[in-house]
Amino acid sequence: MRLLVSRQNIGLWAATYIQQQVASFLPSESRPFVLGLPTGGTVLDMYAYLRRFYAQGQLDFSHIVTFNMDEYVGLPPSDPHSYHAYMKTNLFDGVNIPPQNTHLLDGMAADLQQTCDDYETRIRAAGGIRLFLGGVGRNGHLAFNEPGSAFTSRTRPVTLEPGTRRANARFFDGNEKEVPTQALSVGIGTVLDARELLFLACGEQKAAAVARLSQGEITPAWPITALKTHPNATLLTDEAAATLLTGSVKQALQHEQAKYPQATVWQVQI
Ligand code: GLP
Repeated sequence: MRLLVSRQNIGLWAATYIQQQVASFLPSESRPFVLGLPTGGTVLDMYAYLRRFYAQGQLDFSHIVTFNMDEYVGLPPSDPHSYHAYMKTNLFDGVNIPPQNTHLLDGMAADLQQTCDDYETRIRAAGGIRLFLGGVGRNGHLAFNEPGSAFTSRTRPVTLEPGTRRANARFFDGNEKEVPTQALSVGIGTVLDARELLFLACGEQKAAAVARLSQGEITPAWPITALKTHPNATLLTDEAAATLLTGSVKQALQHEQAKYPQATVWQVQI
């Protein structure tokens, strides 16, 4: 897989990439572009740029279909802390995506496993996900697949680790007790089914997880390492998230940086 280390805003890079991928796909009503979408702090800039591109007439969402990665259990869409609300605020209300084209897991469903199974069916019915965007947890989680999740896991209810709830307390006015203990999440297998993956990691809190990718071992103890098993995966980081790289990956990055000192993004294979 490729690692891109950027010294520019990674949200701008990601939004520009999405815009280019959608434009070259030439989506239509019968052949929409299917995007997998994340939430969290890392991707806020990406969404801001996507809204700007729409406002400037550079990106049309009318033939884009979206599937979000995860949602908390027990929060209705009207709860400002829900990922439904996050998506409405940060993307859906700011672009021309038809509401019926947007899909999120229902954390209020009476039968949580059934709603997860239905989600897998809906993804398949849409023809699968073309480009799955994602963030990375401090512990290396993908979506809400905590360490130990099987790489073959599918959409299901999950229990959040204390560290994840602590990290996400900043979205709940710092009140960790308010962060739900359970969520619904696409599985790692669901993510790996996408044709292409673009994951983003920003800041020094993510450096340990990013470094795991440079150390070779692919293990469910670090869900992020599942990205390495995908034929078309990219991890995009800022410089802070790339500070703990070691060995040959660190050398390769330093080599690229010395060779192209003026570049804004450096690429290495990992
Ligand atoms: C959250 C989300 C993930 C997200 C990750 C990083 O818990 N469920 O999908 O990628 O953790 O979040 P942030 O970007 O806020 O650090």
